[in-house]
Amino acid sequence: MKKLTVRLALATLLLIGSNNAGAQGLKDAYKDYFSIGVAVNKRNVTTDSQMALIKSEFNSVTAENDMKPVSVHPAEGVWNWGAADSIANYCRENGIKLRGHCLCWHSQFSDWMFTDKKGRPVKKEVFYQRLREHIHTVVNRYKDIVYCWDVVNEAIEDNPRPSFVDGKFVPGNPYRESRHWKLCGDEFIAKAFEFAHEADPNALLFYNDYNGCEPGKRDRIYNMVKKMQEQGVPIHGIGMQGHYNIYGPSEEDIDAAITKYSELVKHIHVTELDIRTNTEMGGQLRFSRGEAKPLAPYLQTLQDDQYNRIFRVFRKHRDVIDCVTFWNLSDRDSWLGVNNHPLPFDEQYKPKKVYNIIRDFNPALDNYTVKEDFRPNVMNQPGQEYPQVNSEGYARFRIVAPDAKSVIVSLGLGGRGGTVLRKDKDGVWTGTTEGPMDPGFHYYHLTIDGAVVNDPGTHNYFGSCRWESGIEIPAPDEDFYQCRMDIAHGTISEVLFPSPSTGDMQRAMVYLPPTYGKLTGKGVKAKQERFPVLYLQHGWGENETSWSKQGHAGLIMDNLIAEGKVKPFIIVMAYGLTNNVKFGTIGSFTAKEFETMLVEELVPFIDKNFLTKADKWNRAMAGLSMGGIETKLITLRRPEVFGYWGLLSGGTYMPEDIRSAEGRLQGKKDPKAAKVIFESCGSKEGPDRIRQSVDALKTAGYNAHGYISEGTAHEFLTWRRSLREMAPMLFK
Ligand code: XIL
Repeated sequence: MKKLTVRLALATLLLIGSNNAGAQGLKDAYKDYFSIGVAVNKRNVTTDSQMALIKSEFNSVTAENDMKPVSVHPAEGVWNWGAADSIANYCRENGIKLRGHCLCWHSQFSDWMFTDKKGRPVKKEVFYQRLREHIHTVVNRYKDIVYCWDVVNEAIEDNPRPSFVDGKFVPGNPYRESRHWKLCGDEFIAKAFEFAHEADPNALLFYNDYNGCEPGKRDRIYNMVKKMQEQGVPIHGIGMQGHYNIYGPSEEDIDAAITKYSELVKHIHVTELDIRTNTEMGGQLRFSRGEAKPLAPYLQTLQDDQYNRIFRVFRKHRDVIDCVTFWNLSDRDSWLGVNNHPLPFDEQYKPKKVYNIIRDFNPALDNYTVKEDFRPNVMNQPGQEYPQVNSEGYARFRIVAPDAKSVIVSLGLGGRGGTVLRKDKDGVWTGTTEGPMDPGFHYYHLTIDGAVVNDPGTHNYFGSCRWESGIEIPAPDEDFYQCRMDIAHGTISEVLFPSPSTGDMQRAMVYLPPTYGKLTGKGVKAKQERFPVLYLQHGWGENETSWSKQGHAGLIMDNLIAEGKVKPFIIVMAYGLTNNVKFGTIGSFTAKEFETMLVEELVPFIDKNFLTKADKWNRAMAGLSMGGIETKLITLRRPEVFGYWGLLSGGTYMPEDIRSAEGRLQGKKDPKAAKVIFESCGSKEGPDRIRQSVDALKTAGYNAHGYISEGTAHEFLTWRRSLREMAPMLFK
């Protein structure tokens, strides 16, 4: 993760701009879908900053605890309205709708209703009378502001236990065997709804429960509501609490539950949404706190993905879902404890990444069906069917890991942390990127239960300081790096050279054009041609193999030579000593060590062992990303060595830079610094800096060329194209 951060930081440092989604609250983003609610405590509605946050993000409020029977009505004749009133008043003053929660529940209830003054159990008629008075009093008090009530909460059993009585199968009790049920059977449910309806015929009345996506409990809830409705009980809506976790429920189960409930009710509210970063779920009051601290990045990715998926399902059902309420304002307030990290706002009330994922959804992707023309990625290992790529640029992955809890592919839509795969019933994990990937080459890896591994389906490429999996998304212009049968090819060989300055042998890959070593001319006049040399550097995290393998530098040259577009030259690709540079220190990177190795050791070695034209005007240096930083530093300090300079997503030169290099050449025979200055980047990397620099250089009279790779970011297609554009300008 750190390495990825370095790569991203580097990209940002160099060029990148940001694409900010419009600043608006969750409620605004979802105005065409459903209300966005939040459960609050008294502190939330009396602390200025939190009040402001509620107002900007939410348009429905639920009292987390303060309207529950135990809070407002702890003993017969005793009413505590303080906290409930402050929440209701906050809503009145700010024009925010209030969900009433809750009138009848086995927990946090007015348990005194079950016994008389001497502690003896009362008859159910007495209980009903007390319940009716309670419901009428509370509902009447908040009638003006409460638009719906959770009338009965959690009356259905989680795990009914079937039994055998006298050898006969007796199905388990679908109802929770609460004091209410023991006294009244399921009649208390009907009574509670009737009392609420009497008190406010305009309020929408909900049955509210957790784990309502689990098929068994879903069906028990469905059967109960259906039975009640058939008896004429006024149940208008079903509340799906939604205390979920990062592993489940699945989109399919949520979708199926909503679909099923909507056969019975016109209103579904997601009443208590939070997503734990462990395996627990539901509304039970026993749970673990804090074992997920600090939150591993892969767990964060799973949570981001789960929020993304469930909101996609909710949006799909906007016809029937009219409110989605987060259970608490921030992780700091969460009933699950701050270390379960369950909400979009962190303990400082700052929006987390997942906040943006929820808010800045792309409606076009919601109903989009991916084209089913997937083919194995061209970089796959022999015989491997996956990963696959379709004609739109979507990538699909498949990993067999039957006992894994989570599989994440690091490749996905920008900023999402990757593509989370889902397991099918055979233990096979599959997933497709949420949108099309940029064309060209991408590094990626898998994270299986937190462990980083490569995809066994595809080849490995050195990037991020390790051999990463690679995938190739077809590009419209991919012909220029294809391996053609109808042309002559050069060679790429691995060359070892002694490097006293680093105390080691170092390695370079050397591309020789197809005509290298061939005799030209006839008879005694026949001789071997000598070639100019381009020293071409890779980026941070990469090495000497990157340009030839994932960069296809050799193929690009072969094709350009075959088409007569370039004068053949040698390319030397050495390791640029980039990878020990620590995060945060790139700004003070000098490239001094590499300069010594390159200029004092490698260049002389190449000139001695290859047929080169060994002078500045036959020597170019270019590099991508951090290799561009090296190129800039070294060409400016050693303008007598290199005559053509190229920065590919690797910063820019300014006229004063070139003048300083000219200063170093003063008094020399040829005071010119560079014949060609080439600068490029992807259109998604903030290309204005390139344009400005090239304009400034041209105005100052230098021969500068800019190139912007359309539709690409800080990745290899940008640099392949840059090489294609730059090569014809060299050594002319
Ligand atoms: C929780 C509150 O958030 C906690 O502060 C309290 O201690 C227990 O109740 N299902 C519900 C909510 O319907 O009322 C519960 O709220 C969470 C589970």
